Amino acid sequence: MRLGAWLENARTAIRALPEEPITSLYAIIAHYLEKPAYWPQAHPEFELNEGQVFQLNLQLKKLMGGEPLPYIIHHQEFFGLDFYVTPDVLIPRPETEILIEIALDNLADHPQPALIADVGTGSGCIAVTLAVHHPIARILATDISSKSLAVARRNCVNHQVRDRVFLLQTDLLSSVRARFDLICANLPYIPSEKLNSLEVARHEPRLALDGGKQGLEVIAHLLTQSADRLNPGGLMLLEIEFSQPEAIRALIHGIFPAAGITIVDDLNHLPRLAIIQR
Ligand SMILES: C[S@@+](CC[C@H](N)C(=O)[O-])C[C@H]1O[C@@H](n2cnc3c(N)ncnc32)[C@H](O)[C@@H]1O
Repeated sequence: MRLGAWLENARTAIRALPEEPITSLYAIIAHYLEKPAYWPQAHPEFELNEGQVFQLNLQLKKLMGGEPLPYIIHHQEFFGLDFYVTPDVLIPRPETEILIEIALDNLADHPQPALIADVGTGSGCIAVTLAVHHPIARILATDISSKSLAVARRNCVNHQVRDRVFLLQTDLLSSVRARFDLICANLPYIPSEKLNSLEVARHEPRLALDGGKQGLEVIAHLLTQSADRLNPGGLMLLEIEFSQPEAIRALIHGIFPAAGITIVDDLNHLPRLAIIQR
């Protein structure tokens, strides 16, 4: 079967979807035929063998079932870097890039090697990006999920930061005795009941999303643990749910009464990040 004919059929099939992700079809073809991104559009005459047709049909079926493209092609770009992803980890989001920008600005002001924690590392996107952009940083990346840590390990190897990113399976920072200059965390923060009605819960791991009854359980637990793990003068960056800024502020104030607290909006003008300056 020619690639052009397969694309024609696939194009007809995806018309049933709410959006027609023709670019997703190109991405799937490029990934599974191991070709550059521009190649599928330029080679309709390419003759697919039976195995390739079978493989492409399988991926098309996943796309039709609503599976996010990054899980199908195992790639997601984050802060200009390419990350390997599987359904065991949250797909890195552009909103989280705000946390990276603020962390890198802060690290630029501190020329000495910094000790950083990335709590709930998932794919490792925060830890790896900070390690790539701040080559003197040492980073402890924790996750409660061993499957997430396997994905994070692969990303550390791919980006050659395995010697500076230490991966640890633990509940937040519970088995860690070190003190950090910077603690970053994008933890589960969606209230359990709200999550049940969200499309995202159909495909991405519940463990990465479910923040308990009010959405604050995991974050509150980390704040408590961080009281004696954040160095004086240290910074903590927490991604938050947009509906929670006041509850988060009160929670932080209860644990770090003398700290400066700033809530930063994302590009959609929604509160997205809590900055705690000890
Ligand atoms: C929202 S995802 C964020 C992943 C990644 N940091 C990112 O920004 O894409 C939250 C991560 O926290 C992890 N997690 C949930 N509860 C945890 C806990 N108690 N201790 C450590 N990690 C936890 C999940 O497994 C998941 O990988």
